[in-house]
Amino acid sequence: MNHVNQEQMRAVQIHSYGGAEQLQLTNTKVPVPAEDEVLVKIHAAGVNPIDWKVREGYLAELLPHRLPLTLGWDFAGQVVSVGKNVKQWSVGDAVYSHPNLSKNGTYAEYITVSADEIAAKPKTLNWQESAAVPLVTLTAWQALNEIGKIKTGDRVLIHAGAGGVGNAAIQLAKQAGATVYTTSSSKNIDFLKSLGADEVIDYMQEDFSKLNGLDLIFDTMGGDVLEKSWSTLKKGGNLVSIAEIPNDELAIKHDVKANFCFVQPNSGHLSEIASLIDSGSLKVEIDSVYQLDDVVKAHKKSESSHTRGKIVLQIR
Ligand SMILES: NC(=O)c1ccc[n+]([C@@H]2O[C@H](COP(=O)([O-])OP(=O)(O)OC[C@H]3O[C@@H](n4cnc5c(N)ncnc54)[C@H](OP(=O)(O)O)[C@@H]3O)[C@@H](O)[C@H]2O)c1
Repeated sequence: MNHVNQEQMRAVQIHSYGGAEQLQLTNTKVPVPAEDEVLVKIHAAGVNPIDWKVREGYLAELLPHRLPLTLGWDFAGQVVSVGKNVKQWSVGDAVYSHPNLSKNGTYAEYITVSADEIAAKPKTLNWQESAAVPLVTLTAWQALNEIGKIKTGDRVLIHAGAGGVGNAAIQLAKQAGATVYTTSSSKNIDFLKSLGADEVIDYMQEDFSKLNGLDLIFDTMGGDVLEKSWSTLKKGGNLVSIAEIPNDELAIKHDVKANFCFVQPNSGHLSEIASLIDSGSLKVEIDSVYQLDDVVKAHKKSESSHTRGKIVLQIR
């Protein structure tokens, strides 16, 4: 292969589950791509709530991680070598991805990733903006299109519109021709209207459960928010949650469909998303950018649950 294989790289890893103090900036070996993988030099990595949830060990039963583990599952970077079965990618290609959650992640200078989990990054975005896209936009895409079967004319409620997933969901729902209701605090109302939301409900002042007859609910919150959402759907409506597995009995009682969505890597979806971005139909909001050394601050910010859009780590 090539010279990087013998080299060390910087990566943020955890050696045990716990608080932000578990995040360690370490030197580790640059991984070697398998036959169906590429090696990517990472320029920027997205930070998502799942990163600190994995760090805490909340997903230890769901995801078969081995420690030490490199966190982060969003990146934008350049292909620096390709496995021998890889035909569709070449050294120098600019790519982005939400890679497999069960493997080492993207808070690192290099990652090996399956060739069918990456896509050409949006041409109109820089590295940081590109790294902010994959996980949240794939989640919104898969929840609304694949599971929610959103269609023109639907009345859709998207919870937490100001978050990374919510931003993408509002814009994709408008693309689909839906009327979009969303929830946020007052400081984000104008911003969410600028993304296309038809009505923004300030969850601190108003009760969203005043809504009724909705076709689709995208639940990004779980708990009380999910509980209060059922009665706002019309009979035969659809609830998709990414926060909590919905209760089947309540779905039957309200005569609605309800499903959990767990985001999956998908290069085809990422290519379609890149086209939407490059045509000006999908915008990316960056809340803040941190250097890799400041990963603790980035996690604390994400844990605050009041970011607008995305947090990004600058890797190089
Ligand atoms: N199942 C999956 O595959 C999957 C995939 C992605 C994400 N998720 C999960 O989905 C959730 C959202 O992810 P994310 O990346 O969008 O998170 P995020 O960016 O951290 O969300 C932050 C946003 O939540 C809003 N918010 C907080 N409390 C709220 C409330 N009571 N009502 C309405 N909005 C509220 C905040 O808006 P204000 O500042 O205006 O309050 C803030 O903009 C997380 O729990 C994440 O782990 C699951």
